[in-house]
This record gives sequence, C-alpha cells and structure tokens, in this order.
Amino acid sequence: MRIIETVSSIRQVSQHITRPLGLVPTMGYLHDGHVSLVNRAKSDNDSVVVSIFINPKQFDLTEDLTGYPRNLQRDIKILEDLDVNFVFVPEVSEIYPENYATYVDVGEMSRKLEGSSRPGHFLGVTTVVTKLFNVIRPDRAYFGQKDGQQAVIVKRLVRDLNFETEIVIVPTVREYDGLAMSSRNSRLTEQQREAATVINRALSEAIYMWESGVTDSVTLRRTVEKVVSTEPLAKLDYVSISDVDTLDELNNVYSEAMISVAVWFDNVRLIDNKVIGGNRLE
Ligand code: PAJ
Repeated sequence: MRIIETVSSIRQVSQHITRPLGLVPTMGYLHDGHVSLVNRAKSDNDSVVVSIFINPKQFDLTEDLTGYPRNLQRDIKILEDLDVNFVFVPEVSEIYPENYATYVDVGEMSRKLEGSSRPGHFLGVTTVVTKLFNVIRPDRAYFGQKDGQQAVIVKRLVRDLNFETEIVIVPTVREYDGLAMSSRNSRLTEQQREAATVINRALSEAIYMWESGVTDSVTLRRTVEKVVSTEPLAKLDYVSISDVDTLDELNNVYSEAMISVAVWFDNVRLIDNKVIGGNRLE
C-alpha cells in the first residue's frame, strides 16, 4: 500500500493504475462503516484508493473542526490490512492553496435538512468531492447511506456535471444495538452512548407505522418525535420525510421516502436515516 500526499502524485498514479478504479472518500477515524465501503470497492474494482482528508470547508463555525477525532496511524494500519492500493492523505494547503476561490453548489437541495442546520456544509462537501474526482478520476466512488442527504446530493452533482464516475451507495453499518456507526460516536459519554440507541428505535417505529398503513407524514414525524422525547439526554434537531431524489418534503408516503433525523446529545450531533419502501437510496 502506498501513501500519497500530493495532488500531482495521485494524478500520476491514477493515470497508470489498473482499472476499474474505486475511490472511497473519508475524513478518517475509520470504523466498520468505512470498512464496508472499502470492501465493496475492492470487490467491484481492480484498484482501490481511499482518501483521508478532514475537509475544513464542510465544517461551519459552530462545529469544532479541531475537535474532529483523528488517528492516522490506526487508519493506515486498517487500510493496510484491507490491502488497499493507495491512500491519499493531502494537507489542507494541497487541496486549498492560497487564494482558493471556486465552489461547486448543487443548489436548493443542499440547503435543506443538514444544510439548514449547517449552512455551507454541502458547499464544502460537493467542492471537495469534485476536486477528488478531478484528480483521481475514479470509475466508481463509494458513499454510505448513513449520510443520506450527502449520497443524494453527490448523485445529483455527478449527473448535473456529467462526471464519468459511477456513484455506489452502501447500506448503513450499525452497532449491535442499532446505533449507526459514526466517528462522532466516540465523543459520547457512556450514558449518552446508551441513550443514542433511541435514534434507531424512533426510525424503526416510523417504518413500522408506515408498514401498518400510516401514510401521512405528520403522523410519521410525530411518531419519531414521541420516541425521541422518551430519552431525556436526547434533543431532536429535525425529523424529515422527503423524496429520495429531490429531498422535497412529502405530505404522504405512498411508495418511497427517506426519513431522516438529527439528534443532539449535549454538544454531539448525530444523524441517521432509513428509507421507507426499500432499503437503499439507489
Ligand atoms: P466520513 O464521515 O468520514 O464518511 C466517509 C464515508 O463513510 C461517507 O460516504 C459516509 O456516508 C460513510 N459512512 C459513515 N458511517 C457509515 C456507516 N455507519 N455505514 C456506512 N457508511 C458509513 O462523509 C464524509 O466523511 C465526508 O463528507 C466526505 C464524503 C469524505 C467529503 O469530505
């Protein structure tokens, strides 16, 4: 496995690598969710690049960029054991040199949900993903359903800008008790970690309601609110029931919808989602 730090070297590597090439973009502090993306990329492609870059442009002011967990040595060991071909670990100045000025904006859908709670977040995500695609030119890129809105937005970005990269969405990997794996889980206290299982329970209850014939979004949203409110350490930021392609809020769910939530545990904010009427965002 080779570790590459510059744009010019990764560009050169990607020009000579055996294809198809799969890219797994990450911000590091890897867990089994990331590992499942890498495994899928390995089984679909002849070569795999994993990028590790804590992208400052997708953190807004209220979020502590410096508090984002990191452990590069451990990440590299994990990727070595997975037999990944290349790890791209650029410095911030390599991706955003002085006078950097260009942003890629996917528009209205990036200002909803996470975008309204975290202004500018998706501008940072779509800009860095565009840059990674331009320098690595992957045949396929892998994203987790865990970040459902991100997955939908990246698919739109690729379609709108005619990227040749195929986007593959991989199902959410959960802990034994249903909590979606996330680098941010490591910031929870023991009590908060226990309380965080309420998120999966709330989403599952809404899915169960829908399967029992409830189609109106008000009732489905209320169900989520009620379950989350049983947990005193949890504070619901939003619950949304949206179209899986446009992210528009739906009044009724007849066939497919994404039900997504963001929940605060003190200063740690966790997101999760499930797709009603299917189990993927494909
Ligand atoms: P990061 O949070 O490190 O996540 C990297 C990828 O892993 C994302 O596609 C995310 O959806 C996926 N992932 C995270 N937890 C998962 C889980 N429990 N199950 C399945 N997949 C999971 O998302 C980002 O980084 C950044 O926004 C990035 C795309 C790298 C751009 O900076």
